[in-house]
Amino acid sequence: MQLLREPKDRIIFPLDFPDYNSAKKYIEILRGHIGLFKVGLELFVKEGPEILKLISKAGKAKIFLDLKFHDIPETVRGAMKSANALSAEFITVHCDEGRKLLEAAVETASGKTKVLAVTVLTSLSREGLKEMGMREEFQDPLKLVLHRAGIAKSAGCAGVVCSGLEASFVRKEFGNDFIIVTPGIRPSWSVIKNDDQQRIVTPSDAIKAGADYIVVGRPIRTAKDPVDAVKRIAEEIEKALK
Ligand code: C5P
Repeated sequence: MQLLREPKDRIIFPLDFPDYNSAKKYIEILRGHIGLFKVGLELFVKEGPEILKLISKAGKAKIFLDLKFHDIPETVRGAMKSANALSAEFITVHCDEGRKLLEAAVETASGKTKVLAVTVLTSLSREGLKEMGMREEFQDPLKLVLHRAGIAKSAGCAGVVCSGLEASFVRKEFGNDFIIVTPGIRPSWSVIKNDDQQRIVTPSDAIKAGADYIVVGRPIRTAKDPVDAVKRIAEEIEKALK
């Protein structure tokens, strides 16, 4: 397990917003109540590094740059060089192009930036994996996650992103010195319309399964009071850790 001071440090809020101003609103509301803001493709493509500067300036939360690099190793190396200036705590790369891509990312990441490998997106189910041409054994998301996590660990990645349904198996197989970040979190009280997440768990179950960090987006974003939602999630984490 990572050394995290407070339960809230384990909460990652994804800034899944279309522009600077809507992201800024949530940065102001949630800074100090969560551990990291995750910046993904939607916001980064629109606003670029400015959004990361805004998070750094606001303070009290770290940066998770979730661009899920996925290209030939040399291009990933170049992307990582550019990313080194952005002071991210975590940065993500996809696992499915193999070891060389992961090694290029790990070798190039500088300073405190840790490389996390995305194993299998939590929006993918068995049917989705089958349709993508996975052989029968790896149509089971758990088997594919463990297989890919093994490659990520031996390539030097600091950890993986995987669903709460797989977290305990990853923890058991790869030990405590391997960061597990779990998206697809749905507190029992949250109701999300047209939810696309498939392999979901509650904050409590994810932490009990061994997740170090949980990514919680819509349950916080669509709550009447996002700060209250975050506090409830932090309480749930605290109980789960006991
Ligand atoms: O809680 P919610 O479903 O709104 O969270 C969505 C966020 O989780 C998005 O930013 C998405 O990129 C991220 N994510 C995911 N599955 C992964 C990795 C990240 O849903 N495997």
